[in-house]
Amino acid sequence: MTPAPSPSWESYRTSIGDRSMMFAAIAETWHVENALYPGSYLDLSPSTAIPSVTYVDTDRRAARYFADSDFVRAELARAMRTESAARVDFLHADYTMSLPLADGAFDLLISLYAGPVWEHCRRHLRAHGLLLANTSHGDASLAALDPDVELVAAVHHRGDRYRLDARSLDGYLVPKKPAAADPDLIRRTGRGIAYTRSAFAYLFRLR
Ligand SMILES: C[S@@+](CC[C@H](N)C(=O)[O-])C[C@H]1O[C@@H](n2cnc3c(N)ncnc32)[C@H](O)[C@@H]1O
Repeated sequence: MTPAPSPSWESYRTSIGDRSMMFAAIAETWHVENALYPGSYLDLSPSTAIPSVTYVDTDRRAARYFADSDFVRAELARAMRTESAARVDFLHADYTMSLPLADGAFDLLISLYAGPVWEHCRRHLRAHGLLLANTSHGDASLAALDPDVELVAAVHHRGDRYRLDARSLDGYLVPKKPAAADPDLIRRTGRGIAYTRSAFAYLFRLR
């Protein structure tokens, strides 16, 4: 039997694309030094732009991938066309349980297609820290209803080209059906709300 191919960011990118440009724009605009990425799987793109990233996942393939630090470093160097001094940490852990990380330690919390990261991991975000979330599992919709955060940008993309829109923010996160804007309903269904104007993801900042 042929052995399963080793997990790699390069192969994962063929399905999700390369989000490096998004993280470069976020890191440059908001001076992000470190980030926490619960439910990252093999998406190494934040490390192309952010000096220190802690990835968290329960998946065994993700654990196997991040355990091979030489391979991870080589993938980063190939993508960046230069050696990278970025710090890459991985926790093989369930983010809904207590993580061995300090409170208020991170500039950016990343929540993409991985469930209710915001409510479980928000304590790790520093004052005025950022949350990047999308609506797929309802996380951006929960954040949109949370008075502790404000929207600072919407993220759009075409292929691997990403753009942040920080203007006309009032036009985003307006539910098509106002009754859907119910945190308990979003938690129960694990699904985001449909908005009159949508984006790939939303960047929020703790007030
Ligand atoms: C659909 S993938 C998304 C991966 C990546 N964020 C992306 O955008 O491509 C969801 C990942 O979240 C992980 N995950 C889901 N719930 C988790 C939990 N409670 N703790 C840690 N990882 C979790 C899964 O193992 C999986 O690797």
